[in-house]
Amino acid sequence: MIPKKPSPANIVIFGGKGDLTRRKLIPALFNLYTAGFLPAHFSIYAVHYEKMAEKDYRDYMLEAVNTFSRNGKATKEQWKKFSAHLFFFEGDFTTEATYRGLSATLNKNDKAWSSRAVRLFYYSVAPRFIKPISLLLSQFHLAAKANADRIVVEKPFGTDLQSARELNQLLTTHFSEKQLFRIDHYLGKETVQNLMAFRFANVVFESIWNNKYIDHVQITVAEHIGVGDRGSYYDQAGALKDMIQNHLLQLLCITGMEPPISFDAEEVRNKKADVLKALRPLTKADIGKNVTRGQYGEGEIDGKKQAAYRKEKNVNPGSVTETFVALKLFIDNWRWKNVPFYLRTGKCLSQATSVIVIQFKPVPHNLFGPGIIMDGRPNQLIISIQPEMEITLLFHAKEPGVQMKIKPVEMDFTYKENYTVAVPEAYETLLLDVLEGDATLFMRADQVEEAWKVVTPVMETWKKQAAPRFPNYAPGSWGPGASSDLIKEQGCGWILLPANGTTKIKIKKRKDEK
Ligand code: BG6
Repeated sequence: MIPKKPSPANIVIFGGKGDLTRRKLIPALFNLYTAGFLPAHFSIYAVHYEKMAEKDYRDYMLEAVNTFSRNGKATKEQWKKFSAHLFFFEGDFTTEATYRGLSATLNKNDKAWSSRAVRLFYYSVAPRFIKPISLLLSQFHLAAKANADRIVVEKPFGTDLQSARELNQLLTTHFSEKQLFRIDHYLGKETVQNLMAFRFANVVFESIWNNKYIDHVQITVAEHIGVGDRGSYYDQAGALKDMIQNHLLQLLCITGMEPPISFDAEEVRNKKADVLKALRPLTKADIGKNVTRGQYGEGEIDGKKQAAYRKEKNVNPGSVTETFVALKLFIDNWRWKNVPFYLRTGKCLSQATSVIVIQFKPVPHNLFGPGIIMDGRPNQLIISIQPEMEITLLFHAKEPGVQMKIKPVEMDFTYKENYTVAVPEAYETLLLDVLEGDATLFMRADQVEEAWKVVTPVMETWKKQAAPRFPNYAPGSWGPGASSDLIKEQGCGWILLPANGTTKIKIKKRKDEK
């Protein structure tokens, strides 16, 4: 791969002291820097309304890097070099003085670097600040160069279809669509990107990737932890808006999309938007039958007490916000007609695991007769996104011996055993893409709106229904029983990695390969 090395850049983070900046953005920028991906000339300005001495800010971020970077602690030398590019910028997001100051600073850098640097403005802020920041950036012509200036917007992109449309309208009034980078961090995950490579750089699977051979698809994004200290945000959102509307629907898009003509941002995003447009709208009857929700109660996880969701910090004690959702969707097009896609996600579940399972149809005729195939489960392709990064194909093989006995085995490709290079964090990949101006892994306005169209009927139906009987699942379980009932109609349960009762066959690098 040709290493990416972007042009000189000014990176402005609105929300310079926030959680995302500490946990993800600065560690990601630091790792990009130490890996040699940042340009010689770059500055990071962390905008925050309170006063803070530069040295204190740098120490605060060093602690963040030491705590959250995938590479562990920074060396003295690395930090000294990197932090020389990191500046605290005191400023209120809503006052002109901040933008006047930023303008003077960025112009000064351009002069010193003898080049008009790329400008990256990262909105790591509460949604109410998006409007004033956009207005003021525009008023002070800070992001006026469509080819060089980029705006990164974090989720939530609105709270429903209407507000998403308004947000897109606001952003596109001040900036062109090509300047807008709406982040869905799932798209930056290595294994999610590999799903595209897996599908479109191989011929074997693509020819059977359709309703003739595939019985159904399962997408699970399970979290082991509860809502933690994000109660005030989460209680307004819930699993449907927080996870299904974005991350899970994006996984569905990549699994279901038609082959793009090229790996070009517009082309890839067109094909993904087509999937969302083809999703069969959920009627009231479908919602009653095919969508199930849950909320965790009090219990134990890993031997530790887990408070009920309603008792979590900043959560309404009578909250009816769902912390679990499972649903069934159909993509109405030639490829996927009548192939159900089952999606589920939840907090405080038994394991933290994200997997996509392609369950193939059974063989059309069992020529071996009864009793020879010991375990009748059909072929499955299990794509594990996290924590294991693994692709497993379950198929049947003859067990060694004089008798004909057929048992399932797994052919297994794991990152751990095949690569020694460290896998970048999603934010590293995504930030580098923004610096390069590559929007392939970012959400376009129409995708966001189409995704809202899918979940809006569910939100509206739930609003009209009587309050659900929550809590309805125990922490450490797999969610409410209704979610298992939903998948039972396929004659199987929710499938995870590792599959039970199989023998593993490893795919290793060939000896003649480096
Ligand atoms: C975020 C959600 O977008 O994704 C969180 O707001 C969730 O609620 C998180 O915990 C999950 O991301 P990951 O990368 O830990 O699977």
